[in-house]
Amino acid sequence: MSDTQPTEPAEIATAVRQVLADSLGYLYPAALRVALRTDIADHLANGPKTADELATLTGVHAPFLHRILRFLATRGIFREDDTAAYHITPAAHVLRSDVPYSVRSTALLLTDEMYWKSTGRLEDTVRKGSTVFNDIFGAPLFDYLEGNEESAQTFHTGIADLSTIEQGGIADAYDFPETGTVIDVGGGPGGFLRTVLTKNPRLRGVLYEQQAVLEQHQLDDPAIEGRWETAEGDFFATAPTGGDLYVLKRVLHDWDDDHCVRILRAVRKAMTEQSRLLVIDAIVPPGNDPHPAKLYDIAMMAIFDGTERTEPEFEALLAAADLKPLRVVPTPGTVSVIEAVIA
Ligand SMILES: C[S@@+](CC[C@H](N)C(=O)[O-])C[C@H]1O[C@@H](n2cnc3c(N)ncnc32)[C@H](O)[C@@H]1O
Repeated sequence: MSDTQPTEPAEIATAVRQVLADSLGYLYPAALRVALRTDIADHLANGPKTADELATLTGVHAPFLHRILRFLATRGIFREDDTAAYHITPAAHVLRSDVPYSVRSTALLLTDEMYWKSTGRLEDTVRKGSTVFNDIFGAPLFDYLEGNEESAQTFHTGIADLSTIEQGGIADAYDFPETGTVIDVGGGPGGFLRTVLTKNPRLRGVLYEQQAVLEQHQLDDPAIEGRWETAEGDFFATAPTGGDLYVLKRVLHDWDDDHCVRILRAVRKAMTEQSRLLVIDAIVPPGNDPHPAKLYDIAMMAIFDGTERTEPEFEALLAAADLKPLRVVPTPGTVSVIEAVIA
């Protein structure tokens, strides 16, 4: 692609079409949310159905539903055949609620008003250099969740299900030690810790979280019985001692640099010279190519004052907390594992 302005009519038409389509890009998540909230993918699991049949099943307006599904089909989510019946596609399969790789709850979170209302004020965020989530919802995200059970459920289920999809790949990609204690700092309901302990039957684990999250932990599993405990606390202030391996998975991207350094210093304080820290997050690659990290980065900006980071940015954060990276281990998903030790 050249830096010069387009001159050929076809080149201009392509550029115009792209910009106008991008300008309406927000319609995709809006339409997707309709399909999610009406469970269309589940209704198609046992065979194709017309928009009329689906509308009867879901109680919505049939012609409007047809237009939503026709639109989503342009993205490969559902497919309409010559008889006007809609079929499930690979992208629609993962929207089903009853498949192990379901992204239904994660997609419901990413299309929730917590995200889209904040994104609607993205210009204000960019002008201010800080999220306007507080102005819209009356409190920063995690405080807001504490007072809003339904939103908290949406958030934690969406994140936990995303974690479920990626955690097997991470547990396989990183060579965990055979023995010792893993402390998952801000580990959510503990799905990743459970996977790591299941895969490594002599490892022990501690799930370090806020009380409300610990109350919904997923560690009651016979495969890891007697090898785990929970610890309640504030990761800005302190982390449990005694860990051979500390994990910060999808935590640092929620926070600006100052908050991250506070978290890292608290973990650094709990570590010994032998401990390792695994920072598990997406790493923004250099260059102009699309990458999920560049996409999630904007969502982080809108709702958390969070940010996805480049490798040098992670190195600088670690250095500020007297830690240094040893290596970066890629995983099959969007995140990488940065293994670090005390500097
Ligand atoms: C984006 S989630 C990541 C959860 C999990 N590590 C994963 O990868 O799915 C961030 C987690 O940080 C926890 N958290 C937020 N503030 C915290 C604090 N001050 N102390 C401990 N945990 C906190 C939240 O409860 C949430 O579960």
